[in-house]
Amino acid sequence: MHLKLNEAHVKALRCPQCGKKIFLNGEFTPGEDMIDGKIACEKGHIWEINNGIPSLVYPAIRPQDAKWIAEYDEMAESYDEMVKQYNDFLGIDLMKERARFSQFIPIEGPVRIIDVSIGTAANFMALYESFKNQMGRFNLHGMDLSTGMLRVAQRKIAESNFDVSLTHGSVFNPPYQSNFFDIVLHTGGINTFSDIHGALKEMLRLVKSSGIVIVVDEGLSPKMRETEKGKAIIKANNLFEARPPIQFLPEKAQNLEITYVMNETFYQMVFSK
Ligand SMILES: C[S@@+](CC[C@H](N)C(=O)[O-])C[C@H]1O[C@@H](n2cnc3c(N)ncnc32)[C@H](O)[C@@H]1O
Ligand SMILES: [Zn+2]
Repeated sequence: MHLKLNEAHVKALRCPQCGKKIFLNGEFTPGEDMIDGKIACEKGHIWEINNGIPSLVYPAIRPQDAKWIAEYDEMAESYDEMVKQYNDFLGIDLMKERARFSQFIPIEGPVRIIDVSIGTAANFMALYESFKNQMGRFNLHGMDLSTGMLRVAQRKIAESNFDVSLTHGSVFNPPYQSNFFDIVLHTGGINTFSDIHGALKEMLRLVKSSGIVIVVDEGLSPKMRETEKGKAIIKANNLFEARPPIQFLPEKAQNLEITYVMNETFYQMVFSK
């Protein structure tokens, strides 16, 4: 079975309340998957597992984020159809654009990736298209604060031929070990986050010193902004007015590279520690 909590998943986690390791409790039989139940940290903080997805949200969701999460819960089932509008609107093939992320994958060896706002798992679906025959070398994790989006991701992944460990958590305090991932990926949410600096700082915490953080969101390139097309895009959707949030980068961030993708309509920041 796919997508049930297992030992490899738990190894990546840490308690969002105290930072200590998480353990599967006595109900768990090694080698089997856990669907519903509880996990606890060394200090005894207890977290629920619902349908194979552990919920490690701490502290409670802020009101300004809760509004967005309620919207994502609501739109989860129609999200993939909705974002297809970007294909015509921006003159792109969104799934092909997502697949460009394969340029960051080392040509061989194991790779640990986390998509910290996995949404409907579209980035990993695109990854699968590029690496179908080598999925065995990937250890994939996906986190989101919307249980609606996680459910859609879970269903899509279960229908596919690879595994992703899914966790309900927040990018402001992701319940994962530090220095754990080769690639920390975020696409599409940061422009509306209530604490952009906090989110970027946590993404950097999760990545290994040899790894990279990739952040992509709406924001036209300086050149595109000056064109009629660019002006029309911003007029239709003011999210595209956003600029790469470099003022919120953590001090420890290094080697920042900014490029523009999706026909110069999204910024892409890549950095490391
Ligand atoms: C526009 S969607 C993008 C989804 C996906 N990354 C994609 O590229 O299609 C933004 C996602 O960010 C998630 N999100 C919003 N706030 C979050 C937070 N604090 N922590 C984790 N995920 C969050 C939403 O639930 C939603 O799935
Ligand atoms: Zn704890």
